[in-house]
Amino acid sequence: MFNSKETGTFKLGNRIVKRLGYGAMQLAGPGVFGPPKNRDAALAVLREAIASGVNHIDTADFYGPHVTNQIIREALVPYPEDLVIVTKVGAKRGADGSWNPAFSREELTAAVHDNRRNLGIDVLDVVNLRIMFEVHHPAEGSIEAPLTVLADLQRQGLVRHIGLSNVTPAQVDEARRICEIVCVQNQYNLAHRADDALIDELARHSIAYVPFFPLGGFTPLQSSTLSNVAARLGATPMQLALAWLLRRAPNILLIPGTSSLAHLRENLAASQLTLSPETFAELDGIGAG
Ligand SMILES: NC(=O)c1ccc[n+]([C@@H]2O[C@H](COP(=O)([O-])OP(=O)(O)OC[C@H]3O[C@@H](n4cnc5c(N)ncnc54)[C@H](OP(=O)(O)O)[C@@H]3O)[C@@H](O)[C@H]2O)c1
Repeated sequence: MFNSKETGTFKLGNRIVKRLGYGAMQLAGPGVFGPPKNRDAALAVLREAIASGVNHIDTADFYGPHVTNQIIREALVPYPEDLVIVTKVGAKRGADGSWNPAFSREELTAAVHDNRRNLGIDVLDVVNLRIMFEVHHPAEGSIEAPLTVLADLQRQGLVRHIGLSNVTPAQVDEARRICEIVCVQNQYNLAHRADDALIDELARHSIAYVPFFPLGGFTPLQSSTLSNVAARLGATPMQLALAWLLRRAPNILLIPGTSSLAHLRENLAASQLTLSPETFAELDGIGAG
């Protein structure tokens, strides 16, 4: 059981989650497309995450597509009562594995139903609207039309809470005038700090910030400072990257992704690391400014 006393908890919508969760994207096949090489291993990672105390899982029906959600369902039904599963809509996969926008009313409605069916959940806990004006980074533009559709689906009782992903601060402001936003999921880690001000602004409104690529994503973080501090503390660089995020702001929720039991254990053990103010500052220097 990992130590949630040290990581703490945060209110996500109407539920309390531990700040150290799990991101399920790595459970699909290479390139997040098709089935995993080892389905039993994927099931084992999810079951161990839950047995270790994780109660926040991030997913999307466009991982696979459908594959990741179906694995979650197979591994975890009946779902523990305290588990919060957060999913996303707004993208669809091409036959070649490409990531494409899917923002029409029909596509968003179908995506909500696909998530419900493949996860085996009647009412989705949290659905993030994944903005796709640019696939790899936020880009300005109104999100009112697709968000209004998602808010309609919420009013129909299919979605409990709404979040945003890959958004600019202006889009967060626009969204908050349309409906309640409980979380924002953007790329952020020790080295990628574009959202520093946004995180603090969201903290003031008790909105969760959920960094994707917390470990650097497809290219895990590399920094001599990170390696040196890790060696000094007897921790791994990935554990320190997570410990820094936990300390960075109280509204940060972690969803590190892995398909490996060993990495899962390593990542959850980051909850046992306490960073001194000096160590925090040293790590902070890697990406600050
Ligand atoms: N909203 C969005 O647009 C968006 C985009 C990307 C991701 N996400 C979400 O964010 C979650 C986290 O992102 P991510 O999984 O892409 O990136 P990540 O957590 O930064 O890193 C995952 C990568 O690091 C490796 N890894 C994990 N733990 C490790 C460890 N202890 N030591 C060394 N390598 C380790 C994984 O490989 P192994 O499998 O070999 O461990 C994988 O290649 C995803 O699962 C997904 O739910 C959202």
